[in-house]
Amino acid sequence: MTGTPGSEGLILRQDYFNDPPAWSALVDLLQDTFSIDISLQDQFGGPDPSSMPFGYFDETGRCVANFSAFSMPLVINGRFFKAAGYQSGAVRPDWRGRGLYRDLMQRAFARTKAEGFELDILLTDKPALYERYGFRTFPQHVFAGPPPETAEPPPPARGLSLQDRDDLRLMKTLLQNRAPVSRRFAVVGQMEMFHLNACFDRDIRLTLVTDATIVAWKFHGHTLRLLDVAGPAIPPLATISSALDLRTERIEVCFPPDRLDWDGTPAPYQGYTSLMMRGDAADNIDGPIMLSPMAEF
Ligand SMILES: CC(C)(COP(=O)(O)OP(=O)(O)OC[C@H]1O[C@@H](n2cnc3c(N)ncnc32)[C@H](O)[C@@H]1OP(=O)(O)O)[C@@H](O)C(=O)NCCC(=O)NCCS
Repeated sequence: MTGTPGSEGLILRQDYFNDPPAWSALVDLLQDTFSIDISLQDQFGGPDPSSMPFGYFDETGRCVANFSAFSMPLVINGRFFKAAGYQSGAVRPDWRGRGLYRDLMQRAFARTKAEGFELDILLTDKPALYERYGFRTFPQHVFAGPPPETAEPPPPARGLSLQDRDDLRLMKTLLQNRAPVSRRFAVVGQMEMFHLNACFDRDIRLTLVTDATIVAWKFHGHTLRLLDVAGPAIPPLATISSALDLRTERIEVCFPPDRLDWDGTPAPYQGYTSLMMRGDAADNIDGPIMLSPMAEF
């Protein structure tokens, strides 16, 4: 495939994840660029099958530049949207400043447009890179407040482990059959990033509540930080906090809490990255939102 000027000597490849050496070359690029190991995904069934990677490779098979799109359906204000996420954007230092990234972005955007994606979403620490393509930053907020009255008796709860095969199988089933955690703004289905994010941050705890819901959470200084709730139904926050059985003084919910039968006060979320979106659907977002940290990509 022909590349952009500046890519002389490089091979442009797309949809290459089923080629193990090429996948491994992307793992190396992201390890070298961001110090993250996405090969951890191999133990959970591999990368998202909806991935549409675009990459430049040198003659030795080294991946020198990449930008990937993937399907990330969203619910916004109760409506389903066919949304595309973008991730794994990196260019090796020796190859920067020649237009490789611009070329890969344009190819990925053209592909998702041709495939009928109606909304584009990404997380970045370099918003200026994407503003020229019409992406807008949406400030994120956590929803904070006192814990609700606890439910009695406490519902059943037990810890889940990513290392336990039966737990992993159960988690996959619940993630595949999950109800959106919010009607206002939520991912409809995204299993691969949930597992990877749980792996990346050892402080994240996973608990099975009411035998049918995964609760992802952290607890620090009497504050319960609720990261995600995944299952066919979303229990009220009272059920969740009662099941976790912590000495909670304050709760921070990291997604709009409209399905939790509880209300919190929005407080600006200080993350390392900005949430950016483009597309008509993004214009319908009016109040404070947050993308669950378990869906971060
Ligand atoms: C950011 C990065 C991907 C750019 O790659 P590159 O191949 O040098 O970029 P290009 O030469 O294709 O430039 C594309 C455009 O981005 C702009 N750009 C480049 N680096 C930029 C930066 N750090 N911030 C804002 N804009 C930048 C260029 O000016 C160019 O603009 P133009 O299209 O209007 O001419 C590369 O520097 C990199 O891998 N950085 C570390 C990882 C990273 O930050 N990835 C992005 C994560 S969201």
